[in-house]
Amino acid sequence: MFGKRTSFGGNTPGVSEVARPIPSAPPRVDTPAQIKRAAESDAMAARMRSSEDVIDVRAPAEAARDKEYFQTKSAIFNALIDSIDLSQLATMEQDAAREEIRDIVAEIIALKSIIMSISEQEDLLEDICNDVLGYGPLEPLLARDDIADIMVNGSQRCYIEVAGKVKLTNVRFRDDAHLMNVCQRIVSQVGRRVDESSPICDARLPDGSRVNVIAPPLAIDGAALTIRKFKKDKLTLQQLVKYNSISPEGAEVLRILGRVRANVLISGGTGSGKTTLLNCLTAFIEKDERVITCEDSAELQLQQPHVVRLETRPPNLEGEGEITMRDLIKNCLRMRPERIIVGEVRGPESFDLLQAMNTGHDGSMGTLHANSPREALSRLESMITMGGYSLPSRTIREMITSSIDVVVQAARLRDGSRRITHITEILGMEGDVIVTQDIFLYDIIGEDSNGMLVGRHRSTGITKPQFAERARYFNEEANLVEALEKSNTEQRELLDS
Ligand SMILES: Nc1ncnc2c1ncn2[C@@H]1O[C@H](COP(=O)(O)OP(=O)(O)OP(=O)(O)O)[C@@H](O)[C@H]1O
Ligand SMILES: [Mg+2]
Repeated sequence: MFGKRTSFGGNTPGVSEVARPIPSAPPRVDTPAQIKRAAESDAMAARMRSSEDVIDVRAPAEAARDKEYFQTKSAIFNALIDSIDLSQLATMEQDAAREEIRDIVAEIIALKSIIMSISEQEDLLEDICNDVLGYGPLEPLLARDDIADIMVNGSQRCYIEVAGKVKLTNVRFRDDAHLMNVCQRIVSQVGRRVDESSPICDARLPDGSRVNVIAPPLAIDGAALTIRKFKKDKLTLQQLVKYNSISPEGAEVLRILGRVRANVLISGGTGSGKTTLLNCLTAFIEKDERVITCEDSAELQLQQPHVVRLETRPPNLEGEGEITMRDLIKNCLRMRPERIIVGEVRGPESFDLLQAMNTGHDGSMGTLHANSPREALSRLESMITMGGYSLPSRTIREMITSSIDVVVQAARLRDGSRRITHITEILGMEGDVIVTQDIFLYDIIGEDSNGMLVGRHRSTGITKPQFAERARYFNEEANLVEALEKSNTEQRELLDS
């Protein structure tokens, strides 16, 4: 049989001698303090499990299975690992490798005289294939498209975000070594290792999902693995309207912003939908514009033909070869871009983005982590200051006002829904202060019987924002005025009464 390293027979070596698919972390010698902490954490986990809703992501038959099944699986898995040559298996097509594993598992079951039903055997095979060829217990979660994030906190707790809510699942790893194995397999795809000497790692799954791993000793209760699932079908502006993230009129204003080449900064908290919104806005870029995107992890999906996608690179194991966002933005200025789209600004590259916006690359966009448009501007300022530019703060503010036209704020509300809460225009400076003007807002009115927030989007009564000039140039002024007038609720209520 192909891929075999040894014949196994009935007496497979003990578990401790079993070769692992990929090198696992060096054995950890726990100090008494660590043992105490682990016990406390287990107790806490047990308490929390009993008080939390746990989502069962397994098939009903599997959910009903007892501990014995997992022990059997463990024994078969270990025997299998010892009897195949994983490096050869890795070179095979997925289907062929699966067939190979199927044959060997059937042989192990027969040799060990394990009694199992056909369906149990099939499930076991699926589990083992996932462990050997895929990402183990994460596979069923990765296969689902409705999950936004997967968050693994140590081997025993795995959370997912579905429909805006974070929920605990019953997905578990056998032990910490099993979890580390899966982490290792993920990061090895980008040529990295994760272990005690290099415990933090960013990676990407083949489907584009963004992954972060932080391993012990930095993660105290076992490795923490966070996956932002890549959505093949990114949400469109129409879908955001359908989900009430923005009103139809608000969406029209956003469409116009994208179309008239306004420089837009999208601000929002973690997972608030910044990248999604950026992607929506790029849909209105003309086909003949040359667009260059710079991202840490390529998430944007521009539909235009004339797009160059760039991605940063982390340093290698020796700490060399890093390409930062700054390097990318600087380089893309030499590539004759018409628009520059930056996935997320986190540091000194914000200066380069502002310069790009200021120097004839109208319609450039980027996202930034902040909780309000005002905070976004002060974060931008402090990022530039921290970047080591010895510019007076007034100069930085002037630069901000002359570069950015509009800040769009995204938020994830406490009921899990995502809303666009502000469309705010930057008008200029008054003394040392940046003057802004809200054009579109989201008001929370109350809460319905299911605990979902009720609110409405409205314009603030300004029908001629500063960028109306731009809109006129692109023949969109009438549409802009109409959208803003239509959503001026105060005026409508006055007319109605
Ligand atoms: N308006 C929305 N309605 C429903 N789901 C949304 C909405 N916007 C985004 N999402 C979903 O929320 C998840 C997070 O979105 P996104 O990646 O755009 O957030 P982000 O703010 O860029 O996050 P990060 O800070 O991690 O970069 C995705 O799965 C996305 O599909
Ligand atoms: Mg993002």
